[in-house]
Amino acid sequence: MPFFDTHAHLDNQQLSSDARAVVERARAADVQSMTAIGTDLPTSQKCVGLARQFDGVYAAVGVHPTVCHTDEVAGCWDEIVTLAQQPAVVAIGETGLDLHWDKTTLDAQRQWFQQHIDLSFETGKPLVIHMRDCEQEIVSMLESSAIGGSLNGIMHSFTGSLESAQRCLKLGMYISFAGMVTFKKSDDLRSVAAGIPADRILIETDAPYLSPHPLRSKRPNEPAYIVHTAACLAAVRDISPEELGRVTTENAKRVFQIG
Ligand code: NI
Repeated sequence: MPFFDTHAHLDNQQLSSDARAVVERARAADVQSMTAIGTDLPTSQKCVGLARQFDGVYAAVGVHPTVCHTDEVAGCWDEIVTLAQQPAVVAIGETGLDLHWDKTTLDAQRQWFQQHIDLSFETGKPLVIHMRDCEQEIVSMLESSAIGGSLNGIMHSFTGSLESAQRCLKLGMYISFAGMVTFKKSDDLRSVAAGIPADRILIETDAPYLSPHPLRSKRPNEPAYIVHTAACLAAVRDISPEELGRVTTENAKRVFQIG
């Protein structure tokens, strides 16, 4: 039962310092594919390097909303655009909006997010969208940016309401669940996960962050731990972990246009 971890920060020092071992432990846990996600130019470049180095590793390139105000990212966009053409790059992101960290103005974030949306349309590669404390803002922005009523992308580590999920689904988006869905207090999120159509659900670790229960105290999180999130999602959807693995891997390959 192969799994596809659709969102892992493999460039992060805690994982990249021994990337080969991380990838091998993932494979031993039947996580045969994973997408390494960039958050600025250097991490995006690193993710492309990892994708070239390891079979089954793919890359996403972009600038995260929490860093788009920094001097470091000013002027890097043209290089992101060039990088996005690489065959190892299967998605545009991590992008989105984040009103939790009060460092960047919403206007600046929106401008950066719109550039990613445009690049997704230009390249035909899906968006990977981060949403924190901005459910209404993001869903309405997605609806107004959709061309012909549709958008191609993933709501990553989704923690929103079923209503927001349904509005995203209507645009053609996929909904991805991370370790948070396994936490004791996440009953509401589990019922959202139960309501996502089988052809639109994805699974991810968001490693090295937020290890799933029962490994919550283990740091860093890594792709091999996806099996715990898979077991939880399978239980709430009343299917076997094998079936959950099969369905989410098929969906991941479809959205990333692999194979
Ligand atoms: Ni992330």
